[in-house]
Amino acid sequence: MTFPIAAVRSRFPALSIEDNGVRRIYLDNPAGTQVPDTVAQAVYDCLVRTNANLGGYFGTSRSADRIVDQAHQAMAEFFGTDDPGEVVIGANMTTLTLHMSRSICRDFRPGDEIILTRMDHEGDVAPWLEIAQDMGLVIRWAEIDPVSWRIETETIRSLLSDRTRLLAINHASNMTGAVNDVKAIAELARAANALTYVDAVQFAPHGVIDVAALGCDFLVCSAYKFFGPHLGVLWGRRGLLERMHAYKCRCVSEELPGKFETGTLPHELIAGLTAAVDYDAWLGGETGATGSRREKLAAALRDAAQYEERLARQLIDGLSAMDGVEIIGPAIHDNVRPRVPTVSFRHKSVKPARLAKALADENIFVWSGHNYALGIVRQFGIPEHEGVVRIGIAHYNTAEEIATAIDAVSRAIRAG
Ligand SMILES: Cc1ncc(COP(=O)(O)O)c(C=O)c1O
Repeated sequence: MTFPIAAVRSRFPALSIEDNGVRRIYLDNPAGTQVPDTVAQAVYDCLVRTNANLGGYFGTSRSADRIVDQAHQAMAEFFGTDDPGEVVIGANMTTLTLHMSRSICRDFRPGDEIILTRMDHEGDVAPWLEIAQDMGLVIRWAEIDPVSWRIETETIRSLLSDRTRLLAINHASNMTGAVNDVKAIAELARAANALTYVDAVQFAPHGVIDVAALGCDFLVCSAYKFFGPHLGVLWGRRGLLERMHAYKCRCVSEELPGKFETGTLPHELIAGLTAAVDYDAWLGGETGATGSRREKLAAALRDAAQYEERLARQLIDGLSAMDGVEIIGPAIHDNVRPRVPTVSFRHKSVKPARLAKALADENIFVWSGHNYALGIVRQFGIPEHEGVVRIGIAHYNTAEEIATAIDAVSRAIRAG
Protein backbone atom coordinates (compact mmCIF):
# COMPACT_ATOMS: atom_id res chain seq x y z
CA MET A 1 0.00 0.00 0.00
CA THR A 2 1.25 3.47 -0.83
CA PHE A 3 0.39 5.74 2.05
CA PRO A 4 -1.42 8.86 0.77
CA ILE A 5 1.01 11.26 2.39
CA ALA A 6 0.32 14.18 0.02
CA ALA A 7 -3.43 13.97 0.71
CA VAL A 8 -2.75 13.69 4.45
CA ARG A 9 -0.47 16.72 4.51
CA SER A 10 -2.92 18.81 2.52
CA ARG A 11 -5.39 18.37 5.39
CA PHE A 12 -3.09 19.99 8.01
CA PRO A 13 -2.75 23.76 7.46
CA ALA A 14 0.03 24.06 10.05
CA LEU A 15 2.35 21.85 8.01
CA SER A 16 2.79 24.46 5.29
CA ILE A 17 3.59 27.37 7.60
CA GLU A 18 7.09 28.80 7.26
CA ASP A 19 9.00 31.03 9.67
CA ASN A 20 11.35 33.49 7.95
CA GLY A 21 11.21 31.32 4.85
CA VAL A 22 12.11 28.14 6.71
CA ARG A 23 9.50 25.40 6.84
CA ARG A 24 8.61 23.81 10.11
CA ILE A 25 9.32 20.19 10.85
CA TYR A 26 7.03 18.98 13.61
CA LEU A 27 8.67 16.16 15.52
CA ASP A 28 7.23 17.26 18.85
CA ASN A 29 4.16 15.08 18.26
CA PRO A 30 4.15 13.10 21.54
CA ALA A 31 3.65 16.44 23.29
CA GLY A 32 0.81 17.39 20.94
CA THR A 33 -0.08 16.95 17.28
CA GLN A 34 -1.25 19.43 14.66
CA VAL A 35 -4.91 19.41 13.65
CA PRO A 36 -6.67 18.83 10.34
CA ASP A 37 -8.58 21.70 8.71
CA THR A 38 -11.94 20.20 9.69
CA VAL A 39 -11.03 20.11 13.39
CA ALA A 40 -10.21 23.82 13.42
CA GLN A 41 -13.34 24.55 11.35
CA ALA A 42 -15.57 22.58 13.72
CA VAL A 43 -14.22 24.57 16.69
CA TYR A 44 -14.82 27.82 14.83
CA ASP A 45 -18.33 26.85 13.68
CA CYS A 46 -19.36 25.84 17.16
CA LEU A 47 -18.20 29.15 18.60
CA VAL A 48 -19.78 31.21 15.86
CA ARG A 49 -23.02 29.33 15.22
CA THR A 50 -23.99 27.27 18.24
CA ASN A 51 -22.38 28.89 21.26
CA ALA A 52 -24.76 28.05 24.11
CA ASN A 53 -24.99 25.99 27.22
CA LEU A 54 -26.69 22.60 27.31
CA GLY A 55 -30.26 21.63 28.09
CA GLY A 56 -32.24 24.63 26.85
CA TYR A 57 -35.33 24.72 24.61
CA PHE A 58 -33.82 27.12 22.07
CA GLY A 59 -32.00 26.24 18.88
CA THR A 60 -28.38 26.90 19.77
CA SER A 61 -28.69 25.00 23.04
CA ARG A 62 -30.23 22.03 21.25
CA SER A 63 -27.35 22.17 18.75
CA ALA A 64 -24.82 22.25 21.60
CA ASP A 65 -26.54 19.16 23.10
CA ARG A 66 -26.21 17.44 19.73
CA ILE A 67 -22.52 18.35 19.44
CA VAL A 68 -21.77 16.84 22.84
CA ASP A 69 -23.79 13.68 22.09
CA GLN A 70 -22.05 13.26 18.74
CA ALA A 71 -18.63 13.45 20.38
CA HIS A 72 -19.54 10.74 22.89
CA GLN A 73 -20.74 8.58 20.03
CA ALA A 74 -17.59 9.25 17.96
CA MET A 75 -15.32 8.41 20.88
CA ALA A 76 -17.33 5.29 21.69
CA GLU A 77 -16.54 4.13 18.15
CA PHE A 78 -12.92 5.16 18.59
CA PHE A 79 -12.67 3.01 21.73
CA GLY A 80 -14.60 0.11 20.20
CA THR A 81 -17.66 0.22 22.46
CA ASP A 82 -21.24 0.72 21.37
CA ASP A 83 -22.14 2.58 24.58
CA PRO A 84 -21.52 6.37 24.45
CA GLY A 85 -22.48 6.53 28.15
CA GLU A 86 -19.14 4.88 28.91
CA VAL A 87 -17.24 7.87 27.48
CA VAL A 88 -16.31 10.68 29.88
CA ILE A 89 -14.87 13.88 28.42
CA GLY A 90 -12.67 16.13 30.54
CA ALA A 91 -9.97 18.77 30.43
CA ASN A 92 -7.01 16.45 29.84
CA MET A 93 -5.75 13.03 30.92
CA THR A 94 -4.18 14.23 34.16
CA THR A 95 -7.21 16.16 35.36
CA LEU A 96 -9.52 13.27 34.47
CA THR A 97 -7.28 10.85 36.34
CA LEU A 98 -7.07 13.08 39.41
CA HIS A 99 -10.85 13.37 39.33
CA MET A 100 -11.67 9.71 38.65
CA SER A 101 -9.07 8.33 41.05
CA ARG A 102 -11.09 9.81 43.89
CA SER A 103 -14.19 7.92 42.77
CA ILE A 104 -12.37 4.70 41.85
CA CYS A 105 -10.56 4.42 45.18
CA ARG A 106 -13.44 5.59 47.39
CA ASP A 107 -14.12 2.19 48.91
CA PHE A 108 -10.47 1.09 49.15
CA ARG A 109 -9.22 0.44 52.70
CA PRO A 110 -5.91 1.41 54.32
CA GLY A 111 -3.33 -1.20 53.39
CA ASP A 112 -5.00 -1.98 50.04
CA GLU A 113 -2.48 -1.97 47.22
CA ILE A 114 -2.08 -0.16 43.91
CA ILE A 115 0.46 -1.28 41.30
CA LEU A 116 2.16 1.56 39.43
CA THR A 117 4.94 1.31 36.87
CA ARG A 118 8.30 3.02 36.41
CA MET A 119 7.38 3.34 32.73
CA ASP A 120 4.41 5.64 33.20
CA HIS A 121 4.12 9.36 32.65
CA GLU A 122 3.47 11.36 35.82
CA GLY A 123 -0.14 11.82 34.69
CA ASP A 124 -0.73 8.16 35.52
CA VAL A 125 1.45 8.16 38.62
CA ALA A 126 0.91 11.33 40.66
CA PRO A 127 -2.90 11.01 40.98
CA TRP A 128 -2.49 7.52 42.47
CA LEU A 129 0.35 8.60 44.76
CA GLU A 130 -1.84 11.44 46.03
CA ILE A 131 -4.82 9.25 46.79
CA ALA A 132 -2.61 6.57 48.30
CA GLN A 133 -1.25 9.15 50.70
CA ASP A 134 -4.73 10.44 51.55
CA MET A 135 -6.13 6.94 52.16
CA GLY A 136 -3.17 4.98 53.50
CA LEU A 137 -2.90 2.77 50.40
CA VAL A 138 0.29 0.89 49.60
CA ILE A 139 2.09 1.39 46.26
CA ARG A 140 3.86 -1.53 44.59
CA TRP A 141 6.24 -0.53 41.80
CA ALA A 142 6.66 -2.48 38.57
CA GLU A 143 10.17 -2.07 37.14
CA ILE A 144 10.83 -1.85 33.40
CA ASP A 145 12.48 -4.86 31.78
CA PRO A 146 15.85 -3.49 30.57
CA VAL A 147 15.83 -5.65 27.44
CA SER A 148 12.27 -5.30 26.16
CA TRP A 149 11.79 -1.86 27.79
CA ARG A 150 8.29 -3.06 28.70
CA ILE A 151 6.53 -4.03 31.89
CA GLU A 152 6.57 -7.79 31.60
CA THR A 153 3.61 -9.89 32.69
CA GLU A 154 5.88 -11.81 35.06
CA THR A 155 6.69 -8.57 36.87
CA ILE A 156 3.00 -7.86 37.35
CA ARG A 157 2.33 -11.42 38.44
CA SER A 158 4.98 -11.12 41.15
CA LEU A 159 3.41 -7.90 42.48
CA LEU A 160 -0.24 -8.95 42.59
CA SER A 161 -1.56 -9.95 45.99
CA ASP A 162 -4.93 -10.42 47.64
CA ARG A 163 -4.72 -6.76 48.67
CA THR A 164 -4.22 -5.44 45.10
CA ARG A 165 -7.18 -3.27 44.14
CA LEU A 166 -5.85 -1.43 41.11
CA LEU A 167 -3.15 -1.56 38.47
CA ALA A 168 -2.38 1.65 36.53
CA ILE A 169 -0.27 1.12 33.43
CA ASN A 170 0.51 2.89 30.20
CA HIS A 171 -0.14 1.29 26.86
CA ALA A 172 2.85 3.00 25.25
CA SER A 173 5.64 5.03 26.80
CA ASN A 174 5.93 8.73 26.02
CA MET A 175 9.72 8.42 26.25
CA THR A 176 10.89 5.03 25.01
CA GLY A 177 7.98 4.30 22.70
CA ALA A 178 7.76 0.75 24.12
CA VAL A 179 4.30 -0.81 24.03
CA ASN A 180 2.98 -3.02 26.83
CA ASP A 181 0.97 -6.19 26.39
CA VAL A 182 -2.02 -4.61 28.10
CA LYS A 183 -4.35 -7.47 27.24
CA ALA A 184 -2.23 -10.07 29.05
CA ILE A 185 -1.60 -7.74 31.98
CA ALA A 186 -5.30 -6.83 32.37
CA GLU A 187 -6.14 -10.52 32.33
CA LEU A 188 -3.74 -11.15 35.21
CA ALA A 189 -5.19 -8.25 37.15
CA ARG A 190 -8.75 -9.42 36.57
CA ALA A 191 -7.88 -12.90 37.80
CA ALA A 192 -6.63 -11.24 41.00
CA ASN A 193 -9.84 -9.14 41.31
CA ALA A 194 -7.92 -5.92 40.64
CA LEU A 195 -9.06 -3.12 38.33
CA THR A 196 -6.90 -2.05 35.39
CA TYR A 197 -6.59 1.65 34.50
CA VAL A 198 -4.85 2.11 31.14
CA ASP A 199 -3.12 5.30 30.04
CA ALA A 200 -3.42 5.10 26.26
CA VAL A 201 -2.35 8.71 25.66
CA GLN A 202 0.68 7.73 23.57
CA PHE A 203 -0.88 4.69 21.96
CA ALA A 204 -4.04 6.39 20.67
CA PRO A 205 -2.36 8.28 17.77
CA HIS A 206 -0.64 5.13 16.55
CA GLY A 207 -2.92 2.14 17.02
CA VAL A 208 -6.45 0.85 17.16
CA ILE A 209 -7.96 0.79 20.64
CA ASP A 210 -10.46 -1.95 21.39
CA VAL A 211 -11.43 -1.80 25.05
CA ALA A 212 -13.38 -5.06 24.93
CA ALA A 213 -10.40 -6.94 23.49
CA LEU A 214 -8.00 -5.32 25.97
CA GLY A 215 -10.16 -6.38 28.91
CA CYS A 216 -9.27 -3.34 30.99
CA ASP A 217 -11.70 -1.45 33.23
CA PHE A 218 -10.74 2.15 32.43
CA LEU A 219 -8.76 3.64 29.57
CA VAL A 220 -7.84 7.25 29.08
CA CYS A 221 -6.32 9.31 26.30
CA SER A 222 -5.83 12.92 25.21
CA ALA A 223 -7.41 14.21 22.01
CA TYR A 224 -4.65 16.73 21.37
CA LYS A 225 -2.23 13.85 20.86
CA PHE A 226 -4.40 12.33 18.12
CA PHE A 227 -5.01 15.35 15.92
CA GLY A 228 -7.85 16.77 17.99
CA PRO A 229 -8.27 19.69 20.40
CA HIS A 230 -6.99 19.98 23.97
CA LEU A 231 -9.26 17.52 25.77
CA GLY A 232 -8.94 14.27 27.71
CA VAL A 233 -11.29 11.35 27.16
CA LEU A 234 -11.88 8.37 29.43
CA TRP A 235 -13.64 5.09 28.79
CA GLY A 236 -14.94 3.14 31.77
CA ARG A 237 -17.02 0.00 32.14
CA ARG A 238 -20.68 0.97 32.52
CA GLY A 239 -21.26 -1.24 35.56
CA LEU A 240 -18.34 0.35 37.39
CA LEU A 241 -19.17 3.91 36.38
CA GLU A 242 -22.76 3.41 37.48
CA ARG A 243 -21.75 2.06 40.87
CA MET A 244 -19.03 4.62 41.49
CA HIS A 245 -19.80 7.73 43.49
CA ALA A 246 -19.34 10.90 41.42
CA TYR A 247 -17.98 14.05 43.05
CA LYS A 248 -20.32 16.58 41.48
CA CYS A 249 -22.88 19.31 42.06
CA ARG A 250 -26.09 18.05 43.71
CA CYS A 251 -28.32 19.22 40.88
CA VAL A 252 -26.43 17.18 38.26
CA SER A 253 -28.21 13.91 37.46
CA GLU A 254 -26.74 10.47 38.16
CA GLU A 255 -26.95 9.59 34.45
CA LEU A 256 -23.85 8.51 32.58
CA PRO A 257 -21.62 10.02 31.43
CA GLY A 258 -22.78 13.43 32.70
CA LYS A 259 -22.30 12.59 36.36
CA PHE A 260 -18.51 12.55 35.84
CA GLU A 261 -18.37 15.54 33.46
CA THR A 262 -18.01 18.27 36.04
CA GLY A 263 -19.07 21.82 35.27
CA THR A 264 -19.45 23.26 31.78
CA LEU A 265 -17.28 21.59 29.18
CA PRO A 266 -15.61 23.38 26.25
CA HIS A 267 -18.29 22.55 23.66
CA GLU A 268 -16.25 24.06 20.85
CA LEU A 269 -13.38 21.66 21.54
CA ILE A 270 -15.85 18.81 21.82
CA ALA A 271 -17.06 19.69 18.33
CA GLY A 272 -13.43 19.39 17.22
CA LEU A 273 -13.15 16.00 18.90
CA THR A 274 -15.80 14.51 16.60
CA ALA A 275 -14.00 16.07 13.64
CA ALA A 276 -10.75 14.38 14.74
CA VAL A 277 -12.43 10.97 14.73
CA ASP A 278 -14.03 11.77 11.38
CA TYR A 279 -10.60 12.71 10.05
CA ASP A 280 -9.34 9.20 10.86
CA ALA A 281 -12.35 7.75 9.05
CA TRP A 282 -11.61 10.02 6.07
CA LEU A 283 -8.05 8.69 6.02
CA GLY A 284 -9.42 5.15 6.07
CA GLY A 285 -11.47 6.02 3.00
CA GLU A 286 -8.35 7.43 1.30
CA THR A 287 -6.52 4.16 1.85
CA GLY A 288 -9.42 2.18 0.41
CA ALA A 289 -11.34 1.12 3.51
CA THR A 290 -15.12 0.82 3.40
CA GLY A 291 -17.80 0.16 5.98
CA SER A 292 -18.62 1.87 9.27
CA ARG A 293 -16.75 4.83 10.74
CA ARG A 294 -15.10 2.42 13.20
CA GLU A 295 -13.96 0.15 10.37
CA LYS A 296 -12.56 3.05 8.41
CA LEU A 297 -10.75 4.65 11.33
CA ALA A 298 -9.30 1.30 12.36
CA ALA A 299 -7.98 0.76 8.83
CA ALA A 300 -6.52 4.28 8.83
CA LEU A 301 -4.70 3.73 12.11
CA ARG A 302 -3.29 0.39 10.90
CA ASP A 303 -2.06 1.88 7.63
CA ALA A 304 -0.64 4.95 9.38
CA ALA A 305 1.17 2.70 11.87
CA GLN A 306 2.86 0.80 9.04
CA TYR A 307 3.93 4.03 7.41
CA GLU A 308 5.20 5.45 10.73
CA GLU A 309 7.13 2.27 11.39
CA ARG A 310 9.16 2.81 8.22
CA LEU A 311 10.00 6.34 9.36
CA ALA A 312 10.88 5.13 12.86
CA ARG A 313 13.20 2.51 11.42
CA GLN A 314 14.88 5.16 9.26
CA LEU A 315 15.29 7.38 12.32
CA ILE A 316 16.61 4.63 14.58
CA ASP A 317 19.03 3.44 11.89
CA GLY A 318 20.25 7.01 11.30
CA LEU A 319 20.76 7.77 14.99
CA SER A 320 22.30 4.38 15.77
CA ALA A 321 24.93 4.95 13.10
CA MET A 322 26.23 8.02 14.96
CA ASP A 323 29.17 7.57 17.26
CA GLY A 324 28.27 8.02 20.93
CA VAL A 325 24.48 7.92 20.48
CA GLU A 326 22.43 5.64 22.70
CA ILE A 327 18.77 4.99 21.93
CA ILE A 328 16.71 5.04 25.13
CA GLY A 329 14.09 2.46 24.21
CA PRO A 330 13.62 -0.56 21.96
CA ALA A 331 15.86 -0.13 18.94
CA ILE A 332 14.75 -3.19 17.06
CA HIS A 333 11.30 -3.91 15.69
CA ASP A 334 9.84 -7.35 15.69
CA ASN A 335 6.67 -8.79 14.28
CA VAL A 336 4.58 -7.91 17.30
CA ARG A 337 5.38 -4.24 16.79
CA PRO A 338 6.53 -3.48 20.29
CA ARG A 339 6.95 0.29 19.90
CA VAL A 340 5.27 3.46 18.74
CA PRO A 341 7.40 5.82 16.60
CA THR A 342 8.66 7.93 19.50
CA VAL A 343 12.43 7.72 19.61
CA SER A 344 14.49 9.08 22.51
CA PHE A 345 18.26 9.17 22.66
CA ARG A 346 21.28 10.56 24.45
CA HIS A 347 24.75 11.39 23.27
CA LYS A 348 27.78 10.55 25.39
CA SER A 349 28.96 14.17 25.58
CA VAL A 350 26.53 16.62 23.95
CA LYS A 351 23.65 17.40 26.31
CA PRO A 352 20.02 16.86 25.23
CA ALA A 353 19.05 20.53 25.65
CA ARG A 354 21.94 21.58 23.42
CA LEU A 355 20.85 19.20 20.67
CA ALA A 356 17.18 20.24 20.95
CA LYS A 357 18.21 23.91 20.72
CA ALA A 358 20.38 23.25 17.68
CA LEU A 359 17.44 21.58 15.97
CA ALA A 360 15.10 24.42 17.00
CA ASP A 361 17.50 26.82 15.26
CA GLU A 362 16.69 24.94 12.05
CA ASN A 363 12.94 25.02 12.77
CA ILE A 364 12.93 21.33 13.66
CA PHE A 365 10.73 20.87 16.73
CA VAL A 366 11.79 18.22 19.23
CA TRP A 367 11.68 17.94 23.02
CA SER A 368 14.45 17.42 25.48
CA GLY A 369 14.26 16.64 29.19
CA HIS A 370 12.53 13.97 31.26
CA ASN A 371 9.19 14.66 29.60
CA TYR A 372 7.41 13.70 32.85
CA ALA A 373 8.69 10.12 32.55
CA LEU A 374 10.39 10.35 35.93
CA GLY A 375 10.30 6.61 36.57
CA ILE A 376 12.29 5.86 33.43
CA VAL A 377 15.06 8.39 33.99
CA ARG A 378 15.36 7.27 37.62
CA GLN A 379 15.38 3.53 36.88
CA PHE A 380 18.03 3.91 34.18
CA GLY A 381 20.17 6.44 36.01
CA ILE A 382 19.66 9.21 33.46
CA PRO A 383 20.32 12.63 35.03
CA GLU A 384 16.84 14.00 35.66
CA HIS A 385 17.75 17.58 34.77
CA GLU A 386 19.09 16.41 31.39
CA GLY A 387 16.75 13.64 30.29
CA VAL A 388 16.82 12.71 26.64
CA VAL A 389 16.20 14.16 23.19
CA ARG A 390 12.83 12.93 22.02
CA ILE A 391 11.90 12.78 18.34
CA GLY A 392 8.25 11.86 17.98
CA ILE A 393 6.89 10.88 14.59
CA ALA A 394 3.29 11.30 13.41
CA HIS A 395 1.71 9.95 10.22
CA TYR A 396 2.01 13.36 8.55
CA ASN A 397 5.82 13.36 8.73
CA THR A 398 7.87 12.39 5.71
CA ALA A 399 11.03 10.40 5.05
CA GLU A 400 12.60 13.64 3.86
CA GLU A 401 11.83 15.34 7.17
CA ILE A 402 13.37 12.43 9.05
CA ALA A 403 16.48 12.62 6.86
CA THR A 404 16.72 16.37 7.56
CA ALA A 405 16.40 15.77 11.30
CA ILE A 406 19.05 13.03 11.26
CA ASP A 407 21.40 15.31 9.38
CA ALA A 408 20.75 18.17 11.83
CA VAL A 409 21.43 15.91 14.83
CA SER A 410 24.64 14.69 13.25
CA ARG A 411 25.87 18.23 12.58
CA ALA A 412 24.88 19.39 16.08
CA ILE A 413 26.85 16.53 17.61
CA ARG A 414 29.90 17.36 15.53
CA ALA A 415 29.59 21.03 16.53
CA GLY A 416 29.57 19.78 20.16
C1 LIG B 1 1.77 8.76 28.37
C2 LIG B 1 1.15 10.05 28.84
N1 LIG B 1 0.26 10.02 29.83
C3 LIG B 1 -0.33 11.12 30.30
C4 LIG B 1 -0.04 12.35 29.77
C5 LIG B 1 -0.71 13.56 30.33
O1 LIG B 1 -1.67 13.99 29.41
P1 LIG B 1 -2.46 15.35 29.62
O2 LIG B 1 -1.56 16.44 29.20
O3 LIG B 1 -3.65 15.19 28.72
O4 LIG B 1 -2.83 15.46 31.04
C6 LIG B 1 0.89 12.46 28.75
C7 LIG B 1 1.27 13.77 28.20
O5 LIG B 1 2.25 13.92 27.50
C8 LIG B 1 1.50 11.27 28.26
O6 LIG B 1 2.40 11.31 27.28
